[in-house]
Amino acid sequence: MEKQNIFPVFERMLDRSHKEKLLRQKSKVIWVYGLSGSGKTTIAIALEKALHDRGFLTQILDGDNVRSGINNNLGFTKEDRAENLRRIAEVNKLFYNCGLITINCFISPLKENREHIREIIGKDDFIEIFVDTPIEECERRDEKGLYKKARAGELKNFTGVDAPFEKPETPDIRVETIGFTPEKIVGDILDIVLPKLYY
Ligand code: ADX
Repeated sequence: MEKQNIFPVFERMLDRSHKEKLLRQKSKVIWVYGLSGSGKTTIAIALEKALHDRGFLTQILDGDNVRSGINNNLGFTKEDRAENLRRIAEVNKLFYNCGLITINCFISPLKENREHIREIIGKDDFIEIFVDTPIEECERRDEKGLYKKARAGELKNFTGVDAPFEKPETPDIRVETIGFTPEKIVGDILDIVLPKLYY
């Protein structure tokens, strides 16, 4: 790719701190990840509502939505997932430079995926939440019917079935979903996240 004729303009623009001041919040990237059907989107929606009610400006980015728009040319090979997540991380930079708090819901299956995202965002602005729901439970829920298709061989490269998911060793936050309401889960997340968001 030819880069030598590209001249990004940053130094004359208002920067992130001006936007954060306007919004009276610290912008952060919250990254909710785990298997398909683990409960990422449910948690993200409840978390967004809780933050909105407290006066924070937020934006959810979700796998199925992003993949039907900006990333509609990408599939589920290792390479396509890496590109999917790289682009989303770059989109997140646009949002946090605008002072917003983003809540992302992507499987983000590999440690190298998560490390790359953390590198793009910067470790101080990145908060990762691992939704630790066992695959048996995700498969039992199977709200989209995708585990059934994957088991029947109709869907290839399905995470947890014939594509890997690497559990993190030390996520910033780890939540379990069996036996807990979204409200309880979000309450626990807020205890950790809120102090990082106050201006
Ligand atoms: S990621 O691996 O690149 O992070 P992402 O979160 O964007 O995945 O997309 C996952 C969503 O795509 C799932 O919730 C599911 O609805 C859908 N999907 C379709 N095919 C697959 C597949 N082979 N593996 C995982 N998810 C799939």
